[in-house]
Amino acid sequence: MKECMIKTKDLVKTFSSDGHDFNAVDHVNLEIYEEDFTVIMGRSGSGKSSLLYLMSGLDQMTSGDVFYGDLSLSSLNENKAARFRREEIGFVFQAVNLIPNLSLLDNITIAGFLTKRSRKDVEDEAHNLLSIMGLSNEKNRLPSMISGGQAQRAAIARSLINKPKVLFADEPTGSLNSSSTEVVLDTFSKINQELKKTIIMVTHDIKAAIRADRILFLKDGKVDGDIRLDCYHENDKINRENQVLEYLQAKGW
Ligand SMILES: Nc1ncnc2c1ncn2[C@@H]1O[C@H](COP(=O)(O)OP(=O)(O)OP(=O)(O)O)[C@@H](O)[C@H]1O
Ligand SMILES: [Mg+2]
Repeated sequence: MKECMIKTKDLVKTFSSDGHDFNAVDHVNLEIYEEDFTVIMGRSGSGKSSLLYLMSGLDQMTSGDVFYGDLSLSSLNENKAARFRREEIGFVFQAVNLIPNLSLLDNITIAGFLTKRSRKDVEDEAHNLLSIMGLSNEKNRLPSMISGGQAQRAAIARSLINKPKVLFADEPTGSLNSSSTEVVLDTFSKINQELKKTIIMVTHDIKAAIRADRILFLKDGKVDGDIRLDCYHENDKINRENQVLEYLQAKGW
């Protein structure tokens, strides 16, 4: 039985639109388990990104709370919240945002130098991550000299440099072609299965969803579905795609 890592309690995010308020995240109570690869799906506007930003501390909740063990995110002041995001959370977005005039290696280490670790420790970890991502030969290149898939893998390495407890990703394959998508997804599977990292990924892509241990389906800011899949194996892709597609279609995806 996997341990609970993150727990949301009556989590709400309210936005105003045309003079009236609505809950983009509407009293969500859920648990995320350690070492799980959780995928969040749902139609556009269902609140996936909003939920991800609240769970990772990137955005402030309107009410309710998010707990990492005993730590309550709502109780952190701005300093502590910034430190929490820097040291405990990794985040990968659709837009990669590597710094254009820095090499891949420097893009990764710079995120590590923001903490109190030694330079050597950060550099060793960066080389290790570049190797895991299959980017050792590209480490001295500028971001403009690599493919979209390589850039996303560099961004994943950057997100892991501070050994976060959990890796969040918001449509990380959204702007990649299908071959880059598979390589990036292989990287996520490896991070989950070999590095034992907890992953929470928002995606519209069925090919990404089949990598998950668990799929949460959001509708109107609420959790409307929660299924657990067998452990992912590469030679089971087609069956799994059919299984997930059937589930999503039943949900009105
Ligand atoms: N800053 C904001 N101000 C006002 N409304 C917002 C804001 N951010 C999001 N919303 C609204 O909240 C709802 C949920 O948005 P969210 O971005 O979480 O959806 P999503 O499921 O990630 O959608 P998509 O699949 O298109 O990325 C939408 O109706 C959106 O328009
Ligand atoms: Mg979104």
